[in-house]
Amino acid sequence: QTAYDFFGSHQAGITTPVQEHLHFASFDMMPRTDRDDLISLLQDWSYAASRITQGLEVSATGAVGGDAEEPPDDTGEAQGLPAAGLTITIGFGPSLFENEDGDRYGIADRRPASLQRLPAFVGDDLDPAHSHGDLCIQACADDPQVAVHAIRNLSRIAFGRARLRWSQLGFGKTSRTTSGQATPRNLFGFKDGTANILADDAKALEQNVWVAASDDPGWMAGGSYLVARKIAMLIETWDRVRLSEQDTIIGREKGSGAPLSGGGEFTAPKFSGSAIDANSHVRLAHPDQNDGIRILRRGFNYVDGNNELGRLAAGLFFLSYQRDPQQFITLQKRLSTDLMSEYIRHIGSGIWAIPPGAKSGSYVGAGLFA
Ligand code: HEM
Repeated sequence: QTAYDFFGSHQAGITTPVQEHLHFASFDMMPRTDRDDLISLLQDWSYAASRITQGLEVSATGAVGGDAEEPPDDTGEAQGLPAAGLTITIGFGPSLFENEDGDRYGIADRRPASLQRLPAFVGDDLDPAHSHGDLCIQACADDPQVAVHAIRNLSRIAFGRARLRWSQLGFGKTSRTTSGQATPRNLFGFKDGTANILADDAKALEQNVWVAASDDPGWMAGGSYLVARKIAMLIETWDRVRLSEQDTIIGREKGSGAPLSGGGEFTAPKFSGSAIDANSHVRLAHPDQNDGIRILRRGFNYVDGNNELGRLAAGLFFLSYQRDPQQFITLQKRLSTDLMSEYIRHIGSGIWAIPPGAKSGSYVGAGLFA
């Protein structure tokens, strides 16, 4: 069974081979909390995360080893389960750096200039109940119970300091992040993640994903920026679309994942004079159309039950990591004429600065307070 180190130069959960399940959570700090509350929360989260990612309980006494007259430290549903490849990735939203009391945490002057709420995009239909947040935690694991146990316990640890604002369960990764992984499929039935940035492509990661030491601010070096978009997919409508039209919309063949310009799944698409439509998703999102911009995608499928018309409330919980939020903004603007737009709705959104990984024994975000 796989266990990933929580400590390291980058946070785990970015280039880590994408796991099968996601529990993503956004938090807001409680009113009247101060800098010490924020620091102690990050320390407590980091300590618990360093344990649960190794298949341990949140504390040494755990679910049943403590005083029988006290509530247990650990909620207990992961007893006997392995680490299941759990990664915990922690981020800071724009609102953490600005609050009604002024600079409550003493960090306003350390805010990354590019950490701003995303601009409105064509077709946005955002629900505030599924958007934004002071802090985020991405928990990914190969066992859904392990991912949920992580968010449940980290929320509990936050009691009095931060509270859950919204959360999202995801299943079935929609990207691959290593060349060893086969390309999974999204709920449109297409291979997703073919042209993703992979963990073994150090140059692409350096250029497109990790904040460099020469970028501002210094405390973010080795970190990244996370964009989350909850994208509803109108799958019943999609399922009535002819196969050839589905291929045209994406710009790739549904079966093989090959570009419509020919070749196999991993053949580079050719756009000029080819069968790839000018407004297909792949053409608009391709680096050739966007000054070479690339992002690391790490999304998951979701199904949140169904609506009153008997349609599945399904979609893609899109997650992308980039060195600068502008990479996502440029791509999302370019996708305004995407043929796929008719079949999707962006209903949730958030952006967070993902600080570098913590040194062993330290905590995530320590550099922000140094
Ligand atoms: C490629 C699906 C939203 C950026 C692809 C591919 C599929 C796909 C099937 C082709 C295979 C691949 O290379 O991964 C979807 C679906 C979406 C969605 C179903 C929404 C429900 C987005 C968004 C962005 C994005 C919001 C960024 C703003 C990309 C990029 C590529 C890609 C950069 C690779 C293009 C290339 O280099 O060839 N997507 N996508 N996608 N998508 Fe999306």
